[in-house]
Amino acid sequence: MGYLTTDKKKITAKTFIEMKAAGQKIAQMTAYDYTTAAILDAAGIDSILIGDSASNIVCGNDDTLPITLEQMIYHARAVAKACQHCLTVCDMPFGSYQVSSEEGIRNAIRIAKESGVDAVKLEGGEEIADTVRGIVNAGIPVVGHLGLTPQSIHKLGGYGLQAKEETEALKLMADARALDKAGAFCIVLEKVPAELAAQVTKVVKAATIGIGAGNGTDGQVLVYADALGMSHRFRPKFLRYFADMEKCMTEGVQAYVGSVREGTFPSDEESY
Ligand code: KIV
Repeated sequence: MGYLTTDKKKITAKTFIEMKAAGQKIAQMTAYDYTTAAILDAAGIDSILIGDSASNIVCGNDDTLPITLEQMIYHARAVAKACQHCLTVCDMPFGSYQVSSEEGIRNAIRIAKESGVDAVKLEGGEEIADTVRGIVNAGIPVVGHLGLTPQSIHKLGGYGLQAKEETEALKLMADARALDKAGAFCIVLEKVPAELAAQVTKVVKAATIGIGAGNGTDGQVLVYADALGMSHRFRPKFLRYFADMEKCMTEGVQAYVGSVREGTFPSDEESY
């Protein structure tokens, strides 16, 4: 743990900006339930993202589009209850902010009020700048999300590397500046060239968090089930397995099944 986060004081949006200024990297992971969030928080994670990747990881959907505002609030409330120390960020799901700024602001307030998270995250750049400004003006810290934005997967046409061409890179830079100006305290950069992510990091006041965006961002985020190896089917180049939970859980389940079947569980000591 770094010096800004060793005292176990609550991490806030302001802490992110201080960490950026101090060159202290920010470690973020997703979580969607109380028990997992409690483990991550106690282990010293700086921030938990209640990502709309819950749609894939928890609900088994092919993409993030189907998850609803009510489902996101349900997951965010469980995570927020578990977190003493880290900053919690809830994704605003597809459809909850695209129709109008007013609806986006109202839904961000619903998330903050009903779940108790510290911040909300929205995908997009210049086109959502007014909404970001409105949410920040309502007192809710905002995280932006640029590059590969999974809520626009059908428009993007796939999960490949984004902003490879110069015009796309210039657009991403303009979007990052717009989010920064609108008051976002943090910007997630997903699947963009490392050099571009490093350039964005230099020009914005907001802290940048990368996923598949190289090592030049202010921090990193990974989906916990991917990072902890709960399934080895998803193997993008940017992913590193920091544990082998699939193996660990499979062995645990097999040991349980074996003990039940051979009648050695429960023992007398485990009975009343
Ligand atoms: O939903 C999510 O988990 C995310 C991260 C991958 C950044 O948005």
